[in-house]
Amino acid sequence: MLKYVGYPPVKHCSYAATDNGMNHLQVQAFVMVLSLVFVLSANYNSTFYLHTLGYFMTQNQKSELVLKLQQQIDSVDGISFAEFMEQALYHPEYGYYTTARNRIGKKGDFFTSSSVHSCFGKLIARQLEQMWQLLGQGRFIIAEQGAGEGHLCLDILDALAKKSPEFYACLEYRLIELSPDNRQRQEDLLQQHLAAGRISWCELDDLRGMEGCFISNELVDAFPVHLIEKHAGELQEIYVVNKGDGFGEELRPLSTNLIKEYFQRVGIEPGEGNRCEVNLAACDWMQQVAIVLERGFVLTVDYGYLAEELYAPYRHAGTLLCYHQHQTNEDPYREVGCQDITAHIDFTTLQKIGRQQNLDVFYFGQQHQFLMGLGFLEMLIEMESLETDPNKAQALRMNLKTLILPEGGMGESFKVLIQGKNVATPELLCSKRIRDISMPAGAF
Ligand SMILES: C[S@@+](CC[C@H](N)C(=O)[O-])C[C@H]1O[C@@H](n2cnc3c(N)ncnc32)[C@H](O)[C@@H]1O
Repeated sequence: MLKYVGYPPVKHCSYAATDNGMNHLQVQAFVMVLSLVFVLSANYNSTFYLHTLGYFMTQNQKSELVLKLQQQIDSVDGISFAEFMEQALYHPEYGYYTTARNRIGKKGDFFTSSSVHSCFGKLIARQLEQMWQLLGQGRFIIAEQGAGEGHLCLDILDALAKKSPEFYACLEYRLIELSPDNRQRQEDLLQQHLAAGRISWCELDDLRGMEGCFISNELVDAFPVHLIEKHAGELQEIYVVNKGDGFGEELRPLSTNLIKEYFQRVGIEPGEGNRCEVNLAACDWMQQVAIVLERGFVLTVDYGYLAEELYAPYRHAGTLLCYHQHQTNEDPYREVGCQDITAHIDFTTLQKIGRQQNLDVFYFGQQHQFLMGLGFLEMLIEMESLETDPNKAQALRMNLKTLILPEGGMGESFKVLIQGKNVATPELLCSKRIRDISMPAGAF
């Protein structure tokens, strides 16, 4: 399991146009007739109407996306899987991340650590405060790319405003967001800190010369990936073709030499007959981040492995996974535009590309170690002690355990990488080992 999916399905997302036998024009006509029937009806139930209309609007958006993808595929006789994934997630009108929908949380498709509990952001705030001290306590930029609904930003800024007002007063929080829908959600959620003048949105390139920390949580796993297979010793690439009633796959020569270079850099190739993902967008991203950072840190949280494990011979089918209504599946060609598609990331590549751009690795570990180092247990004990209702205290404990549990939680599959530039060799707060953490007497 990658992202945490902990609840039964709640949100409705309909099936592809071909599944119910309607094409997009028929769906459009149906929506218009449905609207007319309800508007003309004297005592219609407006909630039912809105839900039904919403259902068919989503249906229509998805049909449009399938149609556009099929046209694109036909015009060039097949597209790489990376191009297909890019459109499915980020098509300017119909992509999964572009359209207005609930993606994160109980009513969406998956949970992220920042949506599980504010404790995640509060602990990261402690690390950021130490980084600010290490950089001399001057002007400090926190840049967050792919902030989703903005919960991590909110929790960090809330914590700093309360516990470290001096730092809060000299920080600028810059958000870089591709999705217009998420950008709007961020704006809605972050009103208070916007009014305090702490937040602004920008492009990655606008950050050139930045001093501070560049953070992301589950950004890189959302970049489009190339799907690669090895047959008879040769690397080949998956292309997506139009099968008329849906999408199909064909193995073709590599779309770019960069894929060969990628495997040369990590010094390993997938095993014979195996399928795997290559995230070339992650390479460009790491390079760009390293270039814009003048002095400071890059803190990346995501699920993934070192290349040795990601491309190990026993991993036959890769790590591509789709999320829809808190269920996972391995079929990126269904629910196109209505489900998230992700793949584990390769931390070896991030480290190697970072090093080429003068980013040193200061920390690499599992999320549970990282959070423990920052005082997870102490925070849990303190929060529990403030909770007078035993049922709420129990619920809090269960919720927080999700962040650190290896099995069925986010503690082990999620990793944290901290790189830095022009900051000597600091001993980071998160590096504190579990055996060095002192518990208050009577805690257990
Ligand atoms: C899985 S969500 C992570 C959400 C959030 N970080 C959290 O912890 O809840 C991925 C986010 O990355 C954004 N995204 C993907 N590619 C991006 C890019 N190239 N630049 C900026 N944002 C991007 C998506 O729009 C989405 O907000």
